[in-house]
Amino acid sequence: MTKRSGPVRQDNRIKTLMHVTPQDRLFVLTGAGISAESGLATFRGSGGLWNGYRVEQVATPEAWAADPELVWHFYSQRRRNAISAQPNAGHIALAKIEHQLGDRFYLCTQNVDELHEQAGSQRIHHMHGNLFQSRCTRCNQPFSDTALYETAATLPTCDRCGSPVRPHIVWFGEIPLDMDAIYRKLERATVLLVVGTSGSVYPAAGLVHIANQQGTRTIYIGPEEPLNHEAFDEILLGTATELLPALVP
Ligand code: APR
Repeated sequence: MTKRSGPVRQDNRIKTLMHVTPQDRLFVLTGAGISAESGLATFRGSGGLWNGYRVEQVATPEAWAADPELVWHFYSQRRRNAISAQPNAGHIALAKIEHQLGDRFYLCTQNVDELHEQAGSQRIHHMHGNLFQSRCTRCNQPFSDTALYETAATLPTCDRCGSPVRPHIVWFGEIPLDMDAIYRKLERATVLLVVGTSGSVYPAAGLVHIANQQGTRTIYIGPEEPLNHEAFDEILLGTATELLPALVP
């Protein structure tokens, strides 16, 4: 397999590059960038701060232990933003590709919003949790929850045991959900398509290295190179809504 010589804008090459034969299995990894054009801010880069905090300061077990009100305030605000967001042409394109490929398609997202599902995606795994679920810190059972908890007086507790309830989100320092299933799916993939992630958070950023070791074709789509750009066979510079619709068969 030849490595790319350097990133160039090559929208018109996308169909050729992404040609998926009946033998191919497509593994898609998405990050915050795919929801950017739906109005949801990415974590890093411009607009990546929340009230002057870096996400690392509010999305950790340490932050939760020190100030659960601050943490719930952050996730309540994200719930509010995500509730009014609509899937964009990038989400919709991936759902259409899944419709064509069926079980030969798998979508792993680092995003905690539900825009992929709203666009029609079904074979989807949220490796970093779900913004619209919470769980008791003791019983650990996730449940649907769209409520906003923005003051100390409204912080939720478990109906059964009275323990604090936290967002069902994988924080920095915690292990993403069901990594075994992700590795099993990646093992069978012949193409890895990564969309809109900065390649700075592991283990997600390491999936491309595993794909390389097993000879899986690797392609990145986003407006700028990710940190792990050297690992990709191809990089297509452009936004999710500019480039993904061209892939729909
Ligand atoms: N289309 C595609 N990609 C885009 C777009 C767009 N319209 N706009 C921005 N991007 C790209 C940026 O170039 C950047 O590389 O999206 C990426 C967003 O990077 P991050 O903000 O770091 O988001 P992500 O990589 O998903 O973060 C990983 O970190 O904070 C934690 O758990 C959180 O899941 C998150 C993880």
